[in-house]
Amino acid sequence: MKYNDIRKVFLDYFESHGHKIVPSASLIPNDPTLMFTVAGMVPWKGILQGTEPAFAPRVADVQKCLRAGGKHNDLDEVGFDGRHHTFFEMLGNWSFGDYFKSGAIEMSWDLLTNVLKLNPARLRVTTHVSDDESTEIWRRVAGKEAIRMGDKDNWWSAGDTGPCGPCTEIFYDFGDSIENEDDRWVEIWNNVFMQYDRDANGNLTPLPKQNVDTGAGLERWAALLQGQVDNYNTDLFVNLIHAAEDVTGVKQTTENMPSFKVIVDHLRAVGFAIADGVIPSNTDRGYVIRRILRRAMRHGQILGHRGALLSKLYPALITEMGDAYPELAREESRVVEIIQNEENSFADLLQNGMKLLDVEIPKVQNGVLPGAVAFKLFDTYGFPLDLTQMILRDKNMDVDVAEFERAMAEQKERSRANTKGTRTLWESQSDLPATDDHYKYAPNNDLESRVLAILRNGEFVQSATTGDEVEVALDKTNFYGTQGGQVGDSGELVSNSGAVMSVAEAARVDDIVIHKGTLTANLSVGDTVKTIINATVRQQTARAHTATHLLQSALRHVLNQDVEQRGSKVSPDSVRFDFSFGRAMTAEEKQAVEDLVNKWINADMPVTHEEMSIDDAKKRGAMALFGEKYGDTVKVITAGDVSCELCGGTHVYHTGEIIHAHVNKEKSISSGIRRITMSVGALAE
Ligand code: ALA
Repeated sequence: MKYNDIRKVFLDYFESHGHKIVPSASLIPNDPTLMFTVAGMVPWKGILQGTEPAFAPRVADVQKCLRAGGKHNDLDEVGFDGRHHTFFEMLGNWSFGDYFKSGAIEMSWDLLTNVLKLNPARLRVTTHVSDDESTEIWRRVAGKEAIRMGDKDNWWSAGDTGPCGPCTEIFYDFGDSIENEDDRWVEIWNNVFMQYDRDANGNLTPLPKQNVDTGAGLERWAALLQGQVDNYNTDLFVNLIHAAEDVTGVKQTTENMPSFKVIVDHLRAVGFAIADGVIPSNTDRGYVIRRILRRAMRHGQILGHRGALLSKLYPALITEMGDAYPELAREESRVVEIIQNEENSFADLLQNGMKLLDVEIPKVQNGVLPGAVAFKLFDTYGFPLDLTQMILRDKNMDVDVAEFERAMAEQKERSRANTKGTRTLWESQSDLPATDDHYKYAPNNDLESRVLAILRNGEFVQSATTGDEVEVALDKTNFYGTQGGQVGDSGELVSNSGAVMSVAEAARVDDIVIHKGTLTANLSVGDTVKTIINATVRQQTARAHTATHLLQSALRHVLNQDVEQRGSKVSPDSVRFDFSFGRAMTAEEKQAVEDLVNKWINADMPVTHEEMSIDDAKKRGAMALFGEKYGDTVKVITAGDVSCELCGGTHVYHTGEIIHAHVNKEKSISSGIRRITMSVGALAE
């Protein structure tokens, strides 16, 4: 019996026994205590707990589940046997205050033995030690003597708190030809009698209504109804593995089977989770999905495969499961794009990290890789510890995790000290007057400034010497300190006797502009210096900033007027612009945006820089930038008739100064937010 038929037989049976059939809920639970929907009962927790009304007394469904993090975590087991999955489907029937133990046990037995015609002699049952009632029902209904088990096996809850109760489990005996006990005895159905609510202190309170929560793993049913011991030998998985053979160009063998199992299992987890709205990321469930995807890619690599894998397999998932879960096809373009982005960035990461590991692995002694090496992989290549562990596990090696954690803690301490230097320490200088930086818009290299403070190695000093890395505050400056997405100026501080400091970047802490760099002569508080900005870099940044405004207008013209800025980074000759838009841009759209920006550059339109009140600016229809605060007087930058924005950045005076613009990349950075990067200037041509 194939998957589609089993789902139908199950649902038809319970429908004919008065159950309302409902579709699967999302893998993202509406429940802050859980990362994923780990069981069929998760969507019904409120009803089982009595905090939500039941919409029907009897319900049945086939629920998408994912166990890959938190209390229910099967991730590391997948691949090595025929039973474990991260994603799986759970067949479930519920009674919300309707039937209880006898009703549930009678229907389970009837469906298994009379409808599915399983041999009763092959079925065994367990009950909780405290549950005489269920034990008695099994004797009556099936003539079975239940094996009595403790809390570990026969008490069920989804999380640490919430509804819970004793359960009775039904096992199928695959026969004594199977030596491994876990393969021989397979749990095929769990009936939980939800009687209690557990609070955070572990106290049990009887629930107002007695409910039944059941769960049966569809993959296990498929195995037993198709005469297979290994779930991965059932129709759905056989077909997915064939698709994986096609994509990788590698045939399955006994040796490489674990990798094929991992790939097809993880395809389901990643595909379904992203279709349900999970975005791979570095935190929470996004991180779990990223880990699963990377684990699949790693196994692709073990098979000798390079490049895209799950994104190429996703259509096969739709073929196998799209009828039961229409969201797979509906979300196809979005899911494939997100997976492709992940695959691309991971391929680079893996390649760089593997180069280092290939050098280090032969040096490993006693099977333990030094934590410092794992930390270097993490720090330099962005290789997470679990990825290194996964690669080593294949070679029966491990990582010195304690040493890794020490290195990590030291790094945190260092960066805390650094941040302390650049921010908290400057913030603590409450006597320091705000830097007069109104000269930044018209840099005048004759400006004479006085040194007010010097910060070196986390300490304010009266003087510092040649070669010191310092941060310097002046009474006034030409330098533009990093602000509003525009990267700060670089340049020099010069005294009467010559250059004293090479400034790598001007930053800002509140009202203070901080010149960061290296001293090329001695410098003391009270000294007078000239502030000389690097005019080339200034011009490169200005043209990138004006180009950013043109880009925003062009996106609105080509895509739609609702496109909104969500962040930006303006660097010398390069623009990174984040905006709200629900899908990837087509190649034609990217070209149209680039063409439009270049048309405006070639028209050499005047760019005016004006100061006015916020009300006048609004009357002009100036667009406000994202996340900036404005005083009463604002600067308005207008480029011809195509752009008018409030902006405190530096800009060119004619669009022709931008020379040329070239769109490099456009990609998704999170749900509904796109990132476009553009180069400008002579090199962009
Ligand atoms: N909620 C029970 C389980 O997942 C049925 O096993």
